[in-house]
Amino acid sequence: MKSILENRPGLAHEVNQVAEVAGYLWQKGWAERNGGNITVNITEYVDDEIRALAPISEVKQIGAVMPHLKGCYFFCKGTNKRMRDLARWPMENGSVIRILDDCASYVIIADNPVAPTSELPSHLGVHNYLISIGSPYKASVHTHPIELIAMTHSPKFLEKDVATKVLWSMIPETKAFCPRGLGIIPYKLPSSVELGNATIKELEDYDVVMWEKHGIFSVDVDVMAAFDQIDVLNKSALIYIAAKSMGFEPDGMSDEQMKEMSVAFNLPK
Ligand code: 13P
Ligand code: ZN
Repeated sequence: MKSILENRPGLAHEVNQVAEVAGYLWQKGWAERNGGNITVNITEYVDDEIRALAPISEVKQIGAVMPHLKGCYFFCKGTNKRMRDLARWPMENGSVIRILDDCASYVIIADNPVAPTSELPSHLGVHNYLISIGSPYKASVHTHPIELIAMTHSPKFLEKDVATKVLWSMIPETKAFCPRGLGIIPYKLPSSVELGNATIKELEDYDVVMWEKHGIFSVDVDVMAAFDQIDVLNKSALIYIAAKSMGFEPDGMSDEQMKEMSVAFNLPK
């Protein structure tokens, strides 16, 4: 069977980027079993031939109405599929979905009838929100980064911007490359619409949000950039933990140093 990626270099590039990031997530130890999921809005790569493709699944309900997603297409990791498999065989462990005109349901159109991730309500709700505000962001990544999740087991790091301040102060690049900081969402059932709604709300102020005792969710222009934001944050968490395991509380950069850096890099306060 012909793959939807054939003779479509733009679309193939997007899917290959997802596969590359999926490999990184596995190598980092953040993707046990089927842990984590990725979705990318690929509508800009969709041509008339793709629009005419017959569905290869029945019509499935999203569980909410997404008024801005009418006629959009997404590449999604499959539910219960492994990141390490997505890395090698993206079209066997993920699929392309088309949002139908009712904005509340979708069909799978390629290459295999792989059911999309159980976190679809969060991912699609976020894409719907991003389009509604005219954002250039096209990718969302959810993963289980060990050290950042560990921090959410302490109530002090669940308070607004406490974790952000500690993480930003571990190494100057963290604020430079994750300038909006880390939002916190109190524990909610995985895959729930409540978790999706809380994520959308928190993304008004942050590009990256923690799901307490579960994982992280980030958005950016593409999947590589969304991964990078998580990567720099977790690097800071590792530095914090390294200092703690050497037996001391790390000083962190001073307020003065943070201020100087924010001015030099033209970052928000
Ligand atoms: P899926 O396999 O359905 O994508 O779920 C993985 C996960 O991390 C749920 O939060
Ligand atoms: Zn998860």
